Amino acid sequence: MKVKITETVLRDAHQSLLATRMRTEDMLPVIDKLDEAGYFSLEMWGGATFDTCIRYLNEDPWVRLREIKQHMRKTKAQMLLRGQNLVGYRHYSDDVVEKFVSKAFENGIDIFRIFDAVNDVRNMQTSIKTATDIGAHVQGAISYTISPVHTTEKYVEFAKELEHMGCDSLCIKDMAGLISPHNAKSLIQSLKDEISLPIALHSHCTSGMAPMSYMAACEAGVDILDTALSPLSWGTSQPPSESIVAGLQGTPYETGLDLKCMTEAALYFRNLKSKYQCILDPISEQIDTNVLLYQIPGGMLSNLVSQLKEQNALDKYEEVLEEMPRVRAELGYPPLVTPTSQIVGTQAVLNVLMGERYKVVPKEVKDYVRGLYGRPPKPMDQDFVAMIIGEETPITSRPADLLSPEYDKMKLQAEEMGIIKKEEDILTYILYPSVAPKFLKGELEPEVLTPVMANDCKDIISQNTSYPTEFKVEVEGDVFNVKVEPKSGTLNISENSEKDKPQNPIESKGSVKCDMQGVVLSVDVDTGDQVEAGDTLCVIEAMKMENSVSASQSGTVKEIYVSNGDSVSTGDILMLIE
Ligand code: CO
Repeated sequence: MKVKITETVLRDAHQSLLATRMRTEDMLPVIDKLDEAGYFSLEMWGGATFDTCIRYLNEDPWVRLREIKQHMRKTKAQMLLRGQNLVGYRHYSDDVVEKFVSKAFENGIDIFRIFDAVNDVRNMQTSIKTATDIGAHVQGAISYTISPVHTTEKYVEFAKELEHMGCDSLCIKDMAGLISPHNAKSLIQSLKDEISLPIALHSHCTSGMAPMSYMAACEAGVDILDTALSPLSWGTSQPPSESIVAGLQGTPYETGLDLKCMTEAALYFRNLKSKYQCILDPISEQIDTNVLLYQIPGGMLSNLVSQLKEQNALDKYEEVLEEMPRVRAELGYPPLVTPTSQIVGTQAVLNVLMGERYKVVPKEVKDYVRGLYGRPPKPMDQDFVAMIIGEETPITSRPADLLSPEYDKMKLQAEEMGIIKKEEDILTYILYPSVAPKFLKGELEPEVLTPVMANDCKDIISQNTSYPTEFKVEVEGDVFNVKVEPKSGTLNISENSEKDKPQNPIESKGSVKCDMQGVVLSVDVDTGDQVEAGDTLCVIEAMKMENSVSASQSGTVKEIYVSNGDSVSTGDILMLIE
């Protein structure tokens, strides 16, 4: 029996290793080669790619899809879809889901791999039905994790539901690289016994077990394996495509792929990798057996590191790793994948940074506890629920049933803003209403490749002038624009206008201090307002979550030092209450 291969280099591989920053212009030259190799499919869209395109790269994700698709003659184009969350972080109404899936299909997606973070089939039904109805291949995915409540029987039961809903194939989506060879074999055997659909295994090398598990999966009859070309494999990414293909040669699991062709494509990515070297976090390239204890998926580790860096708290890394499984257990053992990985990860970060557990609870965590993300694998403790949402009763219905249609309303909004040039732009706006307008207006400055500061990139820069030469450097709160001239040039330091910001107010009794690094999303009070202890004063967006700052005492709002859109840091004084 031949084993088919899904190549992930254009999606998961760079999402796991390069913070999803690969540009379309760097993908296009190699598509013909990839198309020739004989892959079953090329995963090239969805997941975090949509977000990074419009948030950082100033690229239209729809254009990327069409341009890549143009070069694909033999290989199927595959995307990762987060069920009712599409490629965003919240549930969208059914009409938006239907529109999005149809448009993705129209623009070239052949295979929709659809998953839900908590394996709640109700969150997948609209996207599965839409994709099946238009004739796409639907691969229903099981978010794989390990916990006291995740048993083989439960997975098989879930797989049966997916088969029943009309899926064309199944995927075991092991986003954290947790599946052991033994478990892969027994799960696939059980699924094969009960289900007639082809089965794909998607894993990550994070814990180092994936290549062994792939072999065991072959022995159990797996049909499709996910791999990444070697330059962007290992670490938090997939096992190397060439090695898996070569390793299966001469066995009953022969893939039939063209190794020569793959090697040429790999060479292309090897050369390309140097361009992205400065954002490659060494941590994500390592084999981390901690993942077996903490169950943190590929991508989340590098996210966590950058969240902690952003909060100036990288020294709390170990502590956060230990806090994470506690939070996860309290939330009923959700598998850690977008968006539950952010929900658990951010809450764990906050619990450690605040020095008190659940002192700050982001809106997203409250919504999870309210049942708005679906049914947790294990019911949460009553006392815990009460601690997070008080008297409120969590919902039991399908979460999207509570959402009224939003497509037409948002379409109108976007049209009034004058940012719509094509139908797809409406979807871009609906998915990312706060980020999309800037992009759609053409005002987004594409990010330069510099998240790691000048030191790490210096060597590369001096060798090649096409590398970033402008940096923002923060020195004790003042931001400087630094231009690095290659070789004999001089450093050109200019002070940024942020210097003109008023001096920080002096702390006094009644000062409301900010305890995280973020952006002010809204200020909910005016000067002169009377507030009670517990009232929301303002909302800070940090780590992609909304965090309310509430009054610790009642009083009158005397001064407000921040307004919407301001960047704030730990220790900044937001307002004064007397
Ligand atoms: Co993955």
